[in-house]
Amino acid sequence: MTSKPTVFVTRTLPDAVEARLKRDYTPRLNGDDRLPGADEVIEGCRGADALIPCPTDKITADVISRLDENVKVIASFSVGYEHIDTNAARDRGIVVTNTPDVLTDATADIAMLLMLGAARRAYEGECMVREATWGAWAPTAMRGVHLTGNRLGILGMGRIGQAVARRAAGFEMEVHYHNRSKLPADQEHGATFHAGLDSLLAVSDVLSVHCPSTPDTLKILNAESIAKLPDGAIVVNTARGNVIDDEALIAALSSGKLFAAGLDVYDGEPNIHPGYRDLTNAFLLPHLGSATVATRDAMGFRAVDNLDAFFAGREPGDRVA
Ligand code: DGY
Repeated sequence: MTSKPTVFVTRTLPDAVEARLKRDYTPRLNGDDRLPGADEVIEGCRGADALIPCPTDKITADVISRLDENVKVIASFSVGYEHIDTNAARDRGIVVTNTPDVLTDATADIAMLLMLGAARRAYEGECMVREATWGAWAPTAMRGVHLTGNRLGILGMGRIGQAVARRAAGFEMEVHYHNRSKLPADQEHGATFHAGLDSLLAVSDVLSVHCPSTPDTLKILNAESIAKLPDGAIVVNTARGNVIDDEALIAALSSGKLFAAGLDVYDGEPNIHPGYRDLTNAFLLPHLGSATVATRDAMGFRAVDNLDAFFAGREPGDRVA
C-alpha cells in the first residue's frame, strides 16, 4: 500500500497514541469521545482499512457482516475481546488483535485495592470522614478483616492472576488457584493448584476473579458457587461483570454470607445492578483496572504496533483471530 491506511477509531485515545496514528495513518478520530452506535461504527469504517474499537463497542456478527470490505484488521484497545465476534471476523478474513501484558500490573494493583477496600471497609470509613459522622475512636468500631495470613483463591491464573499472586505473597496470604490446567511451577508463584472450582471455593477467604468472559464462565459465580465459599468470605472482580450473577452476589452480601465484595466491572456497565448501590459492604470502582496514564498509552501503542505489523505484511504479535 502506498498511501497511509485509514483507521476508524471509536473513542478518543491518549494524545501520544493519536499523535502516532496521525503520523503513520490516516485516522478518523472521535474528538468528543461520544459512544458510537453500531451504525456509526459501520459508517465510520466506510472506505477505511482498519478499526480500533474499545470494550464499549459491540462488534457483533451483524456489525462485522456490514463492515466495509476494505476493513481487514480490528485492533482492539483492550486485552478482553469478548465484545468482538471473533468467529464472524475470522469467517470474513478479518484479523483481530488485543493488547495483553501492558495492563497486567495496573489491573493487579486494582485487585489489591479492591481486596483491601472491601476487607477494611474503606467505603464506610470514607463516608464517615466526608459526612462528618465519625465519632470518637472506639475499640469496637469499624472492624474489618485483615488480609495477612488469610487464604486467597484466584479464579483464572493467567497473566493478571499471576500478578495478583505475587502481590498477595507480599501480604503473607496463602494463595490457591483454579485454572483450566496446572501451571509450571515458575508460573505458580507458590500458589496451590485446585483442579476443581469447588475445591478452590472451599479455601477462599478472599476470592479474586481473573477468568475471561466466555460461555463457560458466564455467571460462574452464582448462588450455588457462592454457597461453597467460607462464611464471611470476600469476593473481588476485576475480570468481567457477566462472570457474576448479580442477584446472587447481592443476596449473599445482604444476608451476611459474604463479608464484603470489591468490584471494578459489572454486567451491563455503566448501568450496574441498582442493588449494589444500597450495600455498604460493596466497595465499588468504575472499571479502573487499566486506568493509569502509562498503561493507557501502552495499550494504545500496542494496538498500533499490531496495525503496523499487519500493514507491513507481518503477523501481528497479539492476533486472537
Ligand atoms: C481490557 O482491556 O479488557 C480492560 O478491561 C480495560 O480496562
